[in-house]
Amino acid sequence: MVKVTFIGHSCFFLESGSHKILIDPFIAGNPVAKATEDHKKADFILVSHGHADHLGDAIKLAKESGATVISNFEICTHCDSQGVKKTHPLHIGGGNEFPFGSVKLTIAHHGSTLGDKLEYGGNPAGFIIRTDGKVIYHSGDTGLFLDMKLIGELDRIDLALLPIGGNFTMDIPDAIKAVEFLKPKKAIPMHYNTFDLIACNPGDFVDGIKPLGVEGIVLGFGESCELN
Ligand code: NI
Ligand code: MN
Repeated sequence: MVKVTFIGHSCFFLESGSHKILIDPFIAGNPVAKATEDHKKADFILVSHGHADHLGDAIKLAKESGATVISNFEICTHCDSQGVKKTHPLHIGGGNEFPFGSVKLTIAHHGSTLGDKLEYGGNPAGFIIRTDGKVIYHSGDTGLFLDMKLIGELDRIDLALLPIGGNFTMDIPDAIKAVEFLKPKKAIPMHYNTFDLIACNPGDFVDGIKPLGVEGIVLGFGESCELN
């Protein structure tokens, strides 16, 4: 069983057996994020790209908890330089085994700069996460791309986590097309309603993927669901 908690924006907390995995921990700067102290003590922190609403508190939390940061090479090198003790760099198309399962980086069409000076943060990415027999795809920030068909072909995705808020990423119609390409069993929308610019009704996404035979799950901030 994998427990999936939506903290807010693109931040999710996965519990798989005794393993705790935090993705894109935009918590302190996100007024609507709902995280507990337990969420801040993950064993692994995955970072999809360098933007502040994804790198978020990763460096601070990793330094406090000793978590391993998993990201692209450039962001891991940045975390190393900021005093994070354990990082594991990957790059697009590459993956590695970890105690909880595995992580592979996928392409994402977006930016990935670090901070106000726009330091180079490598290429943005998504993740294929395998844990406890389940396959979870977190797309990161991205526009729609046809290679999602390939991602859906290579793995039988149990759960897809997809941005729907538009402006910086896919909007709802594009995210529905993404579900058509990926063919996951379930999908949870993300990257919406954090602020006005990305406001939308996630129910429209759920209604839009129902005819595709895919269950959409809208989680409120701090809410969880289980993959059995
Ligand atoms: Ni971004
Ligand atoms: Mn973002």
